[in-house]
Amino acid sequence: MSERQLHFNVLVMDAGYHESAWRVVPEPPDSVLHLEHYLEVARVAERGLLDSLFFADVPGIAEFRVEHMPQPHFDPIDLLSAVAARTERIGLIATGSTTFGAPWDLARRFATLDFLSDGRAGWNVVTTALPVAARNFGLERLPDPSERYARAQEFVEVVQRVWDGWEDGAFVGSREQGVWADRGRLHAPRFRGERFEVAGILPFPRSPQGHPLLAQAGASAGGIALAGRYAEVVFAAKPTLEEGAAYRAELRAAAAAAGRDPDHLHVLPGVAFVLGSTEAEARERRAALESIVSSEFRWRNLLNMSGFDPDLLDPDEPLPDELLASRPPTSVAARVFEQARARRVPFRELAESFAVLPGQLEFTGTPEQLAETIARWFEAGAADGFTLLPTTLPHQLGEFADHVVPLLQARGIYRREYEGRTLRDHYGLPRPANANVAPVGVGDA
Ligand SMILES: Cc1cc2nc3c(=O)[nH]c(=O)nc-3n(C[C@H](O)[C@H](O)[C@H](O)COP(=O)(O)O)c2cc1C
Repeated sequence: MSERQLHFNVLVMDAGYHESAWRVVPEPPDSVLHLEHYLEVARVAERGLLDSLFFADVPGIAEFRVEHMPQPHFDPIDLLSAVAARTERIGLIATGSTTFGAPWDLARRFATLDFLSDGRAGWNVVTTALPVAARNFGLERLPDPSERYARAQEFVEVVQRVWDGWEDGAFVGSREQGVWADRGRLHAPRFRGERFEVAGILPFPRSPQGHPLLAQAGASAGGIALAGRYAEVVFAAKPTLEEGAAYRAELRAAAAAAGRDPDHLHVLPGVAFVLGSTEAEARERRAALESIVSSEFRWRNLLNMSGFDPDLLDPDEPLPDELLASRPPTSVAARVFEQARARRVPFRELAESFAVLPGQLEFTGTPEQLAETIARWFEAGAADGFTLLPTTLPHQLGEFADHVVPLLQARGIYRREYEGRTLRDHYGLPRPANANVAPVGVGDA
């Protein structure tokens, strides 16, 4: 299939993207603690021929959250390893933080997942913007964004060198000669940078995809620069087609400026959706979710996701002027500041209007209408596909797989079967050349 095709990634978040999801789905409230929940989501995603599952992660949780909703942030690589064993095709993208981890360790963990899944692993590179995580790793506070992104650049560079430590032909497996692997084809990274020193090779050959796929979601200048240099998939949050198109153009330009082929960077804006067989049914389903939300959760969550400590602000006042005059710590906070300047109401009231993260595209309607929206964004160059944020899991994902997918297939813009085996195959991405073997400039790594 040579025509440009849509790609879909699904964010697997608990019982669904909406905070009320666990209270309306038929499964018991502890179902998210069991592997079967994730396997069912994966099976539905494969039924819809999706490119990938995506597990977000922050290594830490603000205590207020546990009262309101399940947040079982299991270790995403461990969880996806279990899912890998029980699925065939779906890509498996786990989030890994460059602020807290060590590059050699993370390189090994993702390469292991790539082997266990026969080439279906992807790494969502994040710098982690939530302060709560810092204190779990012996830091008083998060490093500032420019330091986090500088560290991220170096971190990814080391990881790629570690992944390239074995030439593709280094495994020999000759019983006659008694040679399992060719030592002459190893290239220890011997990396000495500003922040990391990493000496040795991995204890196993280059993984099936060469490099697990790299994804990225940060939208600040540092995030865009990192994406331009390395990301093959970008998770975006853009509420309008115009903003989506401008953002995609910016990311493609960043990739070109880094010497890469812009077609090797797929931009997948998030879409939070409620589908119904009629518009009225979809609206009722959405109203059912919204009618039971906690206003306490809303304002606390918005501050938390913006990178602030919710206990330090009074929700019955507008955000303080000093805060609004300061530099927003994240791109989410920048959106919140924008709204807070426009509407000087108590923060509690402002937060009510954020049913999803600020800036996210939201949809409530029929499968026909969602297929239409998706096709419009795709054809206008505002998206290469979408990151699905189903409000309930696996239910709304099932509606998408069974009712939206056939409409996109009928338009000729979505696959009718998986054509390849690896995650790179699904996204139409090349297997990166080994930097130790290929002349500089060859390949897209
Ligand atoms: C769809 C989506 C998924 C994200 N997943 C994560 C995640 O799992 N962990 C994380 O720390 N940040 C996640 N983020 C946040 C960004 O990666 C980034 O850390 C945040 O936006 C702050 O950086 P920025 O100011 O460069 O945007 C996600 C963002 C989006 C839009």
